[in-house]
Amino acid sequence: MLDLNSQTAGFDRENNALVIIDQTRLPNEEVLLSLKTREEIFDAVKTLKLRGAPCIGVCAAIAMAVLSNDSTAQTEEAFIKEFEDNAAYLISSRPTAVNLSWAVNEMKKTLFSCKGQSLDNIKKALCDKASEILENDISTCKAIGEYGAKLLEKTDAILTHCNAGRLACIKYGTALSPVYVAKEQGHDIKVYADETRPLLQGARLTAYELTKAGVDTTVVCDNMSSYIMKNSLVGAVLVGADRIAKNGDTANKIGTSSLAIVARHYGIPFYVCAPMSTFDKNTDNGGGIVIEMRDEAEISEMWYEKRMTPEKAKALNPAFDVTDASLITAFITDKGVFKPEQIKDII
Ligand code: MRU
Repeated sequence: MLDLNSQTAGFDRENNALVIIDQTRLPNEEVLLSLKTREEIFDAVKTLKLRGAPCIGVCAAIAMAVLSNDSTAQTEEAFIKEFEDNAAYLISSRPTAVNLSWAVNEMKKTLFSCKGQSLDNIKKALCDKASEILENDISTCKAIGEYGAKLLEKTDAILTHCNAGRLACIKYGTALSPVYVAKEQGHDIKVYADETRPLLQGARLTAYELTKAGVDTTVVCDNMSSYIMKNSLVGAVLVGADRIAKNGDTANKIGTSSLAIVARHYGIPFYVCAPMSTFDKNTDNGGGIVIEMRDEAEISEMWYEKRMTPEKAKALNPAFDVTDASLITAFITDKGVFKPEQIKDII
């Protein structure tokens, strides 16, 4: 079974299941789920039981392996048709994080590279590929942490938004990886975590994983960023990303672009931390990124005993926004640190 203290999601090959920590139950309950059907997996992504771009990608790869293993197709043609159908279904669960389609496409490449082999061989190759994608996520995030820790050598506190830590990946995370790696190297960095309305990924998840790891953590409301930066409480802002266009425009959790604007105003470095799988060579700029719109009830009802807004008041709930490349100091990736204008040459 999955070791909760070691990774966020796993591939239970013995029982052919995707195993996750149910992130909707954190921080109060640590509940493991074993997912086997495509409907269960779709629902877990849609309802954010599993979330965070890299984690969604890894879980999608495992899901494709699990579903392929369960296939009763007798011919290669029928197997491929079923695979394509599952792929399209899973990709439709959330539109913004590119890691989802990236991982499904990696699985598709494996499938096509095995064409002509027995279906048992193809299934095994898909399982091996999913395990490889999971392992790569861990080493990729560690590399982001190593590059990031160097940039933070003189910093003793950062501000982050949403959850771009180990819960959003498999281990280490992206924006929080430099904090974990710095800690391993003996340098403690304090973290101010935006609570991240409306789903509170910062207050619930970032604060959960950081305090569990012994990191000094302060939760702040989303509207406190100017106070924090004006008073020099942090030396840098680190965030993750769901999709980065060729020109460096970056989609991330709603509220990220306001942070970048405030950081620019106060001269504080604003770093986007992401693996190469989050860079989208098919999207020229932020205008081409589809922003997921979520249920109004997440704003007006969720977390409250009674509806909090008047019945007639509508609520607007875009899950992400796009930060202009011009506001980003640098991208911290697993391949090094890059300026926005370098992105088109490295993807
Ligand atoms: O809606 P979520 O919780 O999936 O949004 C997650 C984020 O916006 C993260 O910052 C992003 O996926 C990067 S995770 C390393």
